[in-house]
Amino acid sequence: MASDLTGGVKLERGREVLRPDIPQSFRRTFALDVLEGLSQKPKRIAPVYLYDEIGSMLFQQITTLEEYYLTQCEQEILTLHMEEIYKSLSRQSFNLIELGAGDGRKTVLLIDHFIKKSLDFEYITLDISPESINGLSLMLEEMFRPARLKVTGIIAEYFDGLKWLAERSSSRNLILFLGSNIGNFEYAKAQKFLRHLWDCLKPDDQLLIGFDLKKDIEVLNRAYNDSGGITREFNMNLLDRINRELGGDFDRGKFQYYSGYDVTTGAVESYLVSTERQEVFIRNLNKIFLFDAWEPIHTESSYKYLESEIACLAAETGFQVEKDFFDSNRYFVDSLWRVQKPGAAIASCSAECL
Ligand code: AVI
Repeated sequence: MASDLTGGVKLERGREVLRPDIPQSFRRTFALDVLEGLSQKPKRIAPVYLYDEIGSMLFQQITTLEEYYLTQCEQEILTLHMEEIYKSLSRQSFNLIELGAGDGRKTVLLIDHFIKKSLDFEYITLDISPESINGLSLMLEEMFRPARLKVTGIIAEYFDGLKWLAERSSSRNLILFLGSNIGNFEYAKAQKFLRHLWDCLKPDDQLLIGFDLKKDIEVLNRAYNDSGGITREFNMNLLDRINRELGGDFDRGKFQYYSGYDVTTGAVESYLVSTERQEVFIRNLNKIFLFDAWEPIHTESSYKYLESEIACLAAETGFQVEKDFFDSNRYFVDSLWRVQKPGAAIASCSAECL
């Protein structure tokens, strides 16, 4: 296998789950972020808080919906272009590092192909959620036990985990950041995220990153307003989560879910809208928040990209685009990037890009 990571806690069935010693107090941070977000105008809560155990389960359901085309498109890409993806990879041993893996359906396709091609790699999943790390690493370890795949889970923020890993492994890295996760950052934050990622990587490391492309607005709106109301529930769970974890008294019956594509921001913007003037008390903050009738809480932006914007984003953050892999509708792209170091002059892109 590619490297020998030490310092891990050995768990049953040969899996390793590593907890770098990074002080974390997620609930206190949650409370402070809610305080900050609900004190702003417009009110907002960071989308990361949509993903508690229930939210993550609801998101997995969303990814199986016909209306939420993104997951099917990416699965089609990985199926259609797997051989080409494989041929674009360097042949040395490497760490296959996945950021925010979800249920691992796409991961299984890649791992399976790489094993059939006898690539020398170990799989590392990195996430702040112990539940998703444990579930996924157990599933993959069992599934690929005959091939003796080494599976490691790291429970940490992405960059803390990557830096921690860089100190312990000299192997090359192939990072997976799939599923349009980058789309939940506004453009400037996506730049910052990718530049930070670049900082954690070595020259010639590679990144396979998923982008949802700009397309027919009806298709976009359907994806976030599914007929079964799962996406609505996914958003409403945020209010329930504040009630459960922070002692809030949100009444979800007094909020309406609204989501729509904004042609000026290039994102599907999602909100929970208060249907009446009301007060909400959050015990852990010892604070009452006043909502006007029809006042929104912004819950999520899902940015959609042009191919030219993706090329700019790569160039501006120190990566070279090696190849783009599209689904048959050209709704989605998995873009393979290579880290350019040293001396990657991070020039801003020309005006025609953006
Ligand atoms: C995780 N992320 C890319 C999803 C998206 O499309 O923005 C989250 C999501 N929200 C509603 N449906 C899916």
